[in-house]
Amino acid sequence: MSTTPLSFPDHFVWGAATAAYQIEGAAHEGGREDSIWDVFARVPGAVADAHNGDVACDHYHRSAEDVALMQELNLQAYRFSTSWARCVPDGVTPNPEGIAFYSRLVDQLLEAGIQPWLTLYHWDLPQALEDRGGWTNRETAHRFAEYAAVMHEALGDRVRIWTTLNEPWCSAFLGYAAGVHAPGRQEPRAALAAAHHLLLGHGLAVQELRRRDPEATLGITLNLTVPDPLDPASAADRDAARRIDGQFNRIFLDPLFRGEYPADVLEDVHHLGLADHVQEGDLTAIAAPFDVLGINYYHGEAVTTAAPDAPSAPEGHAPLSRPVSSPYVAADRVQSVPRGLPVTGMGWEVQPEGLRRLLNRVQEEYTGPAGIPVFITENGAAYDDAPDASGFVDDQDRLHFFDAHLRAVKDAIDDGVDVRGYLAWSLMDNFEWAWGYHQRFGLVRVDYGTQRRTPKASARWYAAVAAANALPA
Ligand code: NOJ
Repeated sequence: MSTTPLSFPDHFVWGAATAAYQIEGAAHEGGREDSIWDVFARVPGAVADAHNGDVACDHYHRSAEDVALMQELNLQAYRFSTSWARCVPDGVTPNPEGIAFYSRLVDQLLEAGIQPWLTLYHWDLPQALEDRGGWTNRETAHRFAEYAAVMHEALGDRVRIWTTLNEPWCSAFLGYAAGVHAPGRQEPRAALAAAHHLLLGHGLAVQELRRRDPEATLGITLNLTVPDPLDPASAADRDAARRIDGQFNRIFLDPLFRGEYPADVLEDVHHLGLADHVQEGDLTAIAAPFDVLGINYYHGEAVTTAAPDAPSAPEGHAPLSRPVSSPYVAADRVQSVPRGLPVTGMGWEVQPEGLRRLLNRVQEEYTGPAGIPVFITENGAAYDDAPDASGFVDDQDRLHFFDAHLRAVKDAIDDGVDVRGYLAWSLMDNFEWAWGYHQRFGLVRVDYGTQRRTPKASARWYAAVAAANALPA
């Protein structure tokens, strides 16, 4: 066993992430209107135990306390999202009171010496825009670029890192194909329209932000997976892995970095009309150069072609009372198969080596040629936390998860991958979408009854790692 600490490069950024709907609460205050998640959460069976984000962690009223907590944990950066439904509630008209909340938050962060990292879209589309077709409507991409301009007008003097979209795969495929996320539609054709319009919205927003602020750091965050054929000798399993890679990773990476959809993906989904949505100039807008790629990594998967009657509900989602279709719109018979690895509370396999491979692959094929660095914008784990009488959680499982994944990041850096920082998911326990409050990802425990925050053992450990810029020996 090594006795020297594992140091990260100078200026490596240590931080944590959250998202508006998952922590803010105050869903009906300060002029905020419904987002698609408020409406979806009211659908019987959509969210476990009918939980919703009405109160969440009450961060809207406790941001000063939460920023103090971040400071205590030695965080250098805090990745949060602004709620479109709070800032531009009808999708068109800015709401100064909503925007002022983020202005205060940004000031609090800067006073604490923490870099604000702003994500414009973490899934909470104003319901007013969904009523006009949501992401299936091309107009939504234009509304998004306008919203980016509104936020930049208010915060651009202080926020220097901007992420357009968080995990557009989830917005498009969990939201419009599987229906396990808002808006809960189960229409494969709509999912592909949404994917294209999300990308277009990203591209238009990048162009708008760049025009306003050439010095800002701009990026997008993708959730990427590492699909391996269950049986590498099987041509069918290798093809399953190719399809998942296409529909999960390359359908976003290729237009962003190469200005084109992958030919095999276009062929796989040709009956679902993806190409029909692509207008002249779209791919040029989507490929507008940006500065950093954010990667959210949770796990990879071993895939195989399942028996035709196998259930196709997406893995890792709360049991719903409604029937659910597959998020893989042109790979219905593809199944992820457990490999016997340890799993987190979400049932997700713990697979840190997948992160090292992913980082190498992304740099080799995409970010390297583009000459841009990557950040891990999310990584973390839900476990069944057991607080002691004082509310403290000795979460050795989560601590080991972070340690193993940070070692994988360090390995990738040693391989030559340009990784500039790591943002843990999540700062605190929060609303885990269709799982409601049943899954806890926080470094900090939240007692939802009292809103008391208590750093877990993993938080203490992470604070020491951030301070040392190194993992313990
Ligand atoms: C990714 C999403 O961005 C975040 O909102 C979610 O809570 C985590 N994954 C965990 O599922």
